[in-house]
Amino acid sequence: MKKITFMVNGTSHAFTGDPEMPLLWYLRDELQLTGTKFGCGQGLCGACTVHLDGEAVRSCITPMKLVAGKKVVTIEGLGASGDHPLQKAWRELEVPQCGYCQSGQLMQAAALLRDTPRPSDREIDEAMAGNLCRCGTYQRIRQGIKRAAG
Ligand code: FES
Repeated sequence: MKKITFMVNGTSHAFTGDPEMPLLWYLRDELQLTGTKFGCGQGLCGACTVHLDGEAVRSCITPMKLVAGKKVVTIEGLGASGDHPLQKAWRELEVPQCGYCQSGQLMQAAALLRDTPRPSDREIDEAMAGNLCRCGTYQRIRQGIKRAAG
């Protein structure tokens, strides 16, 4: 079987299983990187968001074959020890309620700030529209992004 090689949080990995297997399965079941959550499994909720070569992607619908040669970053790799500006802002503002969606929210927000360091409210809303929060923490998420943006 063809070997797929890639990086996860700065460490190289090789995968020889089903190339159609979702990246989310690999992260959670093989690497025990369980900060990335399974929500809908259909690319609709954003709970499984990770970075693939810096872009926010839904790992539940990203097959392993698309990961070949790329760099994956998960919530565990976002800040060396939880010290990413977004993670600090999230703590300061107590953004999470139940917390389940928040690693996906943070990864989506980090991709936004990388491309748009000072986003407007509209840009935040557009970038975050695909990340659902059943507790309704949207206002605090927006505040957290603004605080991290400085
Ligand atoms: Fe991937 Fe919902 S679990 S988008």
